[in-house]
This record gives sequence, structure tokens and C-alpha cells, in this order.
Amino acid sequence: MHKKLVLATPALTPCALIGQNDRMNSSNLSPPATLDTRGRPLQDLRISVLDQCNFRCPYCMPESEFHADYQFLKKRERLTHEEIFRIARIAVSLGVTKLRLTGGEPLLDKRLPGLVERLATIEGVDDLALTTNGMLLAPVAGALADAGLQRITISMDSLDPDVFRRMSGDRGDVNTVLSGIAAAEAAGLGPIKINAVIQRGINDGTVLDLLEHFRGSGHIVRLIEYMDVGNRNGWRLEQVVPSRELLKSIHAKWPLRAVGRQYPGEVARRYQYLDGQGEIGFISSVTEPFCGACSRARLSADGVLYTCLFATTGTSLRDPLRNGADDEELAGILRRTWLAREDRYSELRRPNDRDIPLVSKVEMYRIGG
Ligand code: GTP
Ligand code: 5AD
Ligand code: SF4
Ligand code: SF4
Repeated sequence: MHKKLVLATPALTPCALIGQNDRMNSSNLSPPATLDTRGRPLQDLRISVLDQCNFRCPYCMPESEFHADYQFLKKRERLTHEEIFRIARIAVSLGVTKLRLTGGEPLLDKRLPGLVERLATIEGVDDLALTTNGMLLAPVAGALADAGLQRITISMDSLDPDVFRRMSGDRGDVNTVLSGIAAAEAAGLGPIKINAVIQRGINDGTVLDLLEHFRGSGHIVRLIEYMDVGNRNGWRLEQVVPSRELLKSIHAKWPLRAVGRQYPGEVARRYQYLDGQGEIGFISSVTEPFCGACSRARLSADGVLYTCLFATTGTSLRDPLRNGADDEELAGILRRTWLAREDRYSELRRPNDRDIPLVSKVEMYRIGG
């Protein structure tokens, strides 16, 4: 399964170096790997803390579907922080070393630093990260860092205020997000990654400006192919800009060289500017699937465990947990679910498939991407 993996080049930044060493140290003590049917270890747990969002990005939560009357999960349906902590601890006992908090928009949970603080106490977690749209970040970046968050990824599809606003469903403001990024940097939440979903005819014309802005900043922009996640965004193949096309135009302006993966199962292909102005990444799930090394499990806000971003069904951990299952029983459910895992959706969908298969897939905002 590792045949596609490239050995990591010497670490690029002090932070990256620290991450690698930490991983090596903890692997000496780490529990035996939990492998799925294709030999892929359970390594990452992405935890959606709530399904709501203050944006309505048309590619994720189009306003027409997610209107004022839309029924999001009720509080009692959502996992409590205590329940999230317990599941995370059990996942770590099965080999998970990386936790990422997602949403919807995780910063809508005002008590998030408290959850981070608890998760940071779990021995064996080498990487504790958060993905956010950045609108609410500036005032809490310091508290998140103090609580033990290690790094942050901020979604920012364009620097053009109009394009950005449109892509956030008329909710976002570029300058507010830029202040969030600055606050995260000041709080030491690096290396900061900036995620941009690229859609043809919508923001592909603003990619070079986005890259130019962050060149030399130490932040890593990742250009993401628009994916056919969920059932509500009206995805069409024509809207996908293949990474190789973007790579060509970026390389023509700022020559790049490929660098190896930083850890097995990394979704982004990494490139450095030859002029020393930093690193960018491409996440090319549509044109170059990376299921072969996929080590990610996803926990929805209502406690359902999904073993693929494109899953149609999941396994509830909340129900047994609330029915009194002890840690061993919960670990058994999680373990059996992973052992039976066969998922490789992106590899199975043919690159030129135009249509989304007629199955009901879990929505992106429920499992945080
Ligand atoms: P790092 O830990 O920094 O490498 O982050 P990440 O790339 O794993 O996570 P992030 O939340 O930044 O996700 C970036 C993009 O990759 C999002 O659009 C995700 O939906 C997508 N992505 C992450 N994991 C997977 C995956 O397992 N499969 C697919 N198809 N896409 C993924
Ligand atoms: N295709 C690709 N990426 C998406 N994201 C949300 N919806 C999609 C989609 N349809 C991204 C967000 C965020 C990350 C977690 O997932 O922009 O950066
Ligand atoms: Fe919210 Fe992120 Fe979805 Fe946009 S992509 S609607 S910011 S969860
Ligand atoms: Fe993993 Fe599913 Fe994405 Fe493939 S499509 S990389 S199996 S989450």
C-alpha cells in the first residue's frame, strides 16, 4: 500500500522537524497498528464538533438548501465534550496519533478551547490541529494556543473581496479572515495552512494573487480540487480545475520543485518555490486519488464514525456510549469498523465520471472535510 509514498525530504522548517521527531519518539511507545482490509493503519481522527456554519459556501452548504429553517442537530443529539474526549482517547489507544477538529465551523462552539485543553492531555497525540473558516478566529487564537492547539488550517478561497464574499455565500469578509490568520501566527499556531477550493470560472482567475500574497510568509497555501462530496452542491466535472493545469501556470510564473511527503498518508502533494519563497500544496482527490494511504476516520457531531469522506453509512458510537458501553466495548466497535474498512471512493470513481453516483453520501459540513 505504501508504494506511492515518497520518503520525506529533510524537514523544511523547524516546526516540521519537531513534528517528525515527536512522531518517531511516540511511535516507540505506540499501540499496535489497527489495519483495514487494505493494510491501511488508523492514524487520524477528524472530529466534527458541530454541524452548523456561519458561512454558506455554495460548494458545501448552498444557501438554497441550508436556509433559515434548516434543521441542524439539536444540542442533545451532539456529542458533549466529555463524549468526544472519551472517543478520542479510545481512538488513540487503537493507533490514532493525529486529531483534527472541524465542523461545520468549529469556532461557533464558544467552549472549544476547553475541549482542546482536554484533548491535549491525551498521551500519544502528536498532532492536534483545527480547520476553520477564520471569521471568528482572531479573538480566540491565543486561547486555543494556550489550551494546547498545535496548528491551524484556514480556508480562504480568494483574496478578491467580491469573489471571497460570493464563495462564502455572502457571509465572509477577507480582512476579518486575514486578521484571524495574523492572530494565529502571533499565537504560534504554525505552520499555518491556507486551504483554497478552486472552481473553474469562479475563483481560478484569482489563484496567482492568492499565492503572491502568501509567498514568503511561511504559510502554506493548498489548492484543492473541487470534490463531489455530499449530494447538495450540484458538482460537475467541468467545474474542477485539475491540479496539473494550475501547476503549469504557477510554475511558469514562479518555478517550483516537488518535495516529498511529510508523513505517510498526507493528502497534499508539496512543492517549493525555487526562489526560496516557501511551499504550496495540491490536493487532487478528483484527478489523482490518494486512497491507497488513507488513514483517516471521521467522527460526526452526532457521534457517527465514517471511514470515508464519501461514505454513505457510518457506525454510531454515540448510541452504545449513551447506552452504557464501557471503553473496551467502544474500542471493539471502533476496531471492528476499521478492520472491515474497504473504502477507496476516489480511486473507484473514474476520472472522467461526470455524474455523482446516485447514492446518498454524507454531507461535507457534517464531517468537516
Ligand atoms: P494536514 O494535516 O495539514 O495535512 O491537513 P489535511 O490536508 O489532512 O486536512 P484539511 O482539513 O486541511 O483538508 C484539506 C482538504 O483535503 C479538504 O478539502 C479535505 O476535504 C480534503 N481531504 C482531507 N482528507 C481527505 C481524504 O481522506 N479524502 C479526500 N478525498 N479528501 C480529503
Ligand atoms: N471540495 C473540496 N474541498 C471542499 N471543502 C469543503 N467542500 C469542499 C468540496 N466540495 C474544503 C473546505 C475546507 C476543507 C476542510 O474542505 O474549504 O478547507
Ligand atoms: Fe462552512 Fe467550511 Fe462548509 Fe464553507 S466549506 S460552508 S466554511 S463548513
Ligand atoms: Fe480516504 Fe475515502 Fe478520501 Fe479515498 S475517498 S482518500 S478512502 S476518505
